[in-house]
Amino acid sequence: MTANSTRIAIIGAGKGGTALLELLHQIPDVDIVGIADKDPTAPGLQRARDLNIRVEREVHDLIRNHGVNLIMDVTGDPSMSPFIQAMKRPGSEVLSGATTRLLWKLVQHQSKLEAELFQADKLAGLGSFAAGIAHDINNPLQLILGLAENLADEQDLAVVHEQACDITEAVKRTSAICRDLTRYARRNGTGEEVMVNLNTKLDEALRIARYAVTLQDVTVVKRYAEDATVRGNPDELLHVFVNLITNAVQAIQTRGTLTLQTHVAPDGQVSASVSDTGCGIPKEAFSKIFEPLYTTKPPGKGTGLGLYNVMSVISKMEGHICVESDVGVGTTFRIEFPQVQPTTSCAPQ
Ligand SMILES: Nc1ncnc2c1ncn2[C@@H]1O[C@H](COP(=O)(O)OP(=O)(O)OP(=O)(O)O)[C@@H](O)[C@H]1O
Ligand SMILES: [Mg+2]
Repeated sequence: MTANSTRIAIIGAGKGGTALLELLHQIPDVDIVGIADKDPTAPGLQRARDLNIRVEREVHDLIRNHGVNLIMDVTGDPSMSPFIQAMKRPGSEVLSGATTRLLWKLVQHQSKLEAELFQADKLAGLGSFAAGIAHDINNPLQLILGLAENLADEQDLAVVHEQACDITEAVKRTSAICRDLTRYARRNGTGEEVMVNLNTKLDEALRIARYAVTLQDVTVVKRYAEDATVRGNPDELLHVFVNLITNAVQAIQTRGTLTLQTHVAPDGQVSASVSDTGCGIPKEAFSKIFEPLYTTKPPGKGTGLGLYNVMSVISKMEGHICVESDVGVGTTFRIEFPQVQPTTSCAPQ
């Protein structure tokens, strides 16, 4: 907190209160003192606990104490306004009704735009996957065709049996490709956060990135720590890793090494990194690479949304991303995730 910080109390922990929490807790010099709701099951209360923000049942406890100077009423309850006016500390201001609704609408609008950008980036990526997908589906299809032609003339039952197994395996490979891609392309479901295994997500991302970039001359090294799990949205994390891996491979112009690493520090801090021995990023570009639409790639190759989306996801998770790079040597993007107590079960992978 600084001398100029605004100390806010949010009254109402439904959709509006939760959206305000999400917006305001990220803003410097804004201190959310607490949130109150008479319904103990209101969704914003749990979110506030996750963010270590005070939760109160009684509105007057919240607005009288703790030096609140701005009260935001999102209850929609007409009797709340006179109650707040009667109970508040002198000098504290109240935003209610239309003003708070407007703010909430702006927040909703902003998060809708972010979701659209996120989806646009994924779909733009899928366009460049087309050739890779066609190649990978065509291989097992050719195999199936060859085996089926053999089977038509085959008399030996043991061989028929063996080839039928090969066909089944080839079909399974094709459906695995389709499953990975449809899962990747879909919109984020509930946005629910669960425990996600980063090693599994990196592997899944590598399978998907293979359709966008050729890994033929790239040596992939995996250095995974056991139990590298974090709390987050599995679809968003997948997209983060697909973007980092795609960038890394695109930076390797001829031959090189892509290193995927996860690390769990003794204090429980989990991190993941994607390194390449590619072209590197000049120092003067460091401040620009996370900006939306910044790209050095030719039209059709890059939209410049990849790292912007990576940053949005990681900031939302309250993690950190740092980049180390030397021109002509290579680049490492490292993500440090916030610490969590592993109380929830793992996401279905
Ligand atoms: N691993 C890397 N090595 C070198 N340069 C990189 C690396 N990752 C990112 N960059 C630089 O940062 C820029 C922005 O990356 P970003 O992923 O946001 O967009 P993009 O890859 O150009 O397009 P796309 O929207 O398709 O991802 C890139 O154009 C590139 O100049
Ligand atoms: Mg990119």
